[in-house]
Order: sequence, then C-alpha cells, then structure tokens
Amino acid sequence: MKKIRCLVTAGPTREYFDPVRFISNPSTGKMGWAIAKAAKDKGWEPTLILGPSPLPDIEGARTLRVESAQDMFEACKKFFDECDILIMSAAVSDVRPKKKLAQKAKKDEINLSPELERTPDILLELSKIKNGRILIGFAAETQNVLEYAKEKLEQKNLDGIVANAVGGIDTGFASDTNKIDLILRSGEVVDFRKGTKNEVAKLLINFLSARFFDQ
Ligand code: C5P
Repeated sequence: MKKIRCLVTAGPTREYFDPVRFISNPSTGKMGWAIAKAAKDKGWEPTLILGPSPLPDIEGARTLRVESAQDMFEACKKFFDECDILIMSAAVSDVRPKKKLAQKAKKDEINLSPELERTPDILLELSKIKNGRILIGFAAETQNVLEYAKEKLEQKNLDGIVANAVGGIDTGFASDTNKIDLILRSGEVVDFRKGTKNEVAKLLINFLSARFFDQ
C-alpha cells in the first residue's frame, strides 16, 4: 500500500516588531501536533511544520520549526510538491509589522502606531497550485463557526475544512480537549465527538484516510 505523505502545520506564528516584541495568538500547536502524530501512527509519512511551541519533535516524523508566517510559507512551499494531503491547522498571524527593528526599541521610543501589513495567506497561495492534492483547512472562530468555515472552504478551494469553535474553556486554543466538525465540498458535515486532542486527531485522520485514500 502506498504511504500517504502528509504536510501538517501547527501552532501560532510570531511577527516581530523588534527582537523581543511580537504579534501572535494563544495557539499552542497541540491540535496540529496531535494530527501529525495520529498520521504517523496510521502509517502515513507526516512532515510537521511547527510554529513557536514547547511541544517536542514527533519521533519518526520530520519536524521543522518556524517562527513567522513568511518562514512557514517558505517551509510549506518546500514540502508541498511531495505531499498528497495538506492539513493546515496552524493559527497563522494575519498581520505583521511592516518594519522590524534590528535592536530592541527603548520604551520611550516605541512607535505607538506601527504600520501593519497582511501576511501571505499560505493556504490560499498553495490552493492555486493544488494539482490534485487534498487540502484541509481549519476555521477557528468565536461565532458563526459553520457559516464562516463554509465561506473559507469556497474561497480557498479546499476539499474540507475543520470548523473549530474557539473561545470556550474546553475547546480550541491551548485546551487539551476539542470539538470539531469537518465540512466537505459536497456540504456534508461530519460531526466528531468531543475528546482529547489526540482522540479527535485520530478520528479525523481515520476519516480522511477512508474518504480520500480508500485506506
Ligand atoms: O481566512 P482564515 O485565516 O480564517 O483561514 C483559516 C485557514 O487559513 C487555516 O487553515 C489557516 O491555517 C490558514 N491561513 C493561512 N495563512 C494565513 C492565515 C490563515 O494559511 N495567513
């Protein structure tokens, strides 16, 4: 049986103003890490691209550590060609400072209205060179989760999107448990039962394996 090559992104990104100050978000990388681990346990060949996170490398899987959205984009481009499926679970920062200072700014010299710019939308850019690969996105939302997730599925030409309500205590960012629904292109919504991130990741990988690879 052919080994499924899977590219997984996880964690936040950091967008630095200077060497010690950055824009980021509360993501810890646990969900994406659990997905890469479940993929490895399933016999797939995962490459995990992990933003700043205290989580360890996954034994038997290639783990690359990145800092910014731009780094993550470069790493994704490098490994995209050789993957069968991309699962983009990273909470990529949407914006970054236009300028990064080489030295720490003195407190009284901090620019209080720094100019920001958008980071590259990695998933959108990769969807333009999709070429038969399966693309799964994540929609972490605090409201209208299913509706917003469906919009993103269309916008980014995805095969599926994980709708993930964040903001509760036991789902989403930083928690050890999660509750997700997977929305497919056909409109089908697969409701996975709530569990630890490892349990949820296993259910997701088993589903994707059966649905897209007949395995
Ligand atoms: O549009 P939105 O950022 O909410 O879409 C979320 C999906 O897009 C996630 O899969 C996320 O990993 C991905 N994303 C990305 N590059 C960005 C922002 C989000 O690939 N700059």
